[in-house]
Amino acid sequence: MKIIYFIIMKNQKKAFIFDLDGVVTDTAEYHFQAWKTIADELNVPFDRHKNEELKGVSREESFKRLLSGKVLPPDQFKSLMNKKNDLYRSFLKKLTRNDMLPGMREFLTQSRHDGFKTAIGSSSKNAAEIIERLEANDLFDSIVCGADVPNAKPAPDLFLLAANKLNVPPEQCVVFEDAYSGITAAHTAGMKAVGIGTKEALPEADLIYKNLNSVTPEQIVNLLV
Ligand code: BG6
Ligand code: MG
Repeated sequence: MKIIYFIIMKNQKKAFIFDLDGVVTDTAEYHFQAWKTIADELNVPFDRHKNEELKGVSREESFKRLLSGKVLPPDQFKSLMNKKNDLYRSFLKKLTRNDMLPGMREFLTQSRHDGFKTAIGSSSKNAAEIIERLEANDLFDSIVCGADVPNAKPAPDLFLLAANKLNVPPEQCVVFEDAYSGITAAHTAGMKAVGIGTKEALPEADLIYKNLNSVTPEQIVNLLV
């Protein structure tokens, strides 16, 4: 009896860690549009299916994956990567507090009301600006982004640092992710992973939702026990 009690307590979920691009807001689409411009300029085939491989990983790794083995001189690689980021950042100017994905602000508000800690765990180095534009700073206890760790997803570093900042053990954290690499990162960190997207794109996710509209923190926790 004591052992069962110990296992339940150890697994009791206390924190939610959210990926940003494609989970909190639809900036994953902006990344796709910006990379598509670069791919077209280089005459490299690039579509939404290929784009799934770019989600979650760092900017540099995204570009390498887009190039699929094609090698560019270092100067050109760097200038096109900067061009992509400039274009992406020009899209970010459109973002307002109304651009959270359906149900997200309600889910975050309810989570905090129910006593869960909340954090962002994003590979992006543009995360702070996005959260600012969404007027979402008050909804998170901690924001961990690509500038804070040496290894982006699929490494577990971002999520482990977020758990550490929240002072919650990894097994009591649940990650929300739209990227295959992010689901891998969550599992490597010893956390459960809720996929936002489709079963086809995120076959390893512990639960799948199209978005968090009408989903409650309590439902998630009960389904993951
Ligand atoms: C992730 C995105 O959140 O951040 C990736 O899913 C992106 O597509 C990565 O490459 C890095 O983002 P940024 O904003 O630093 O270029
Ligand atoms: Mg994402």
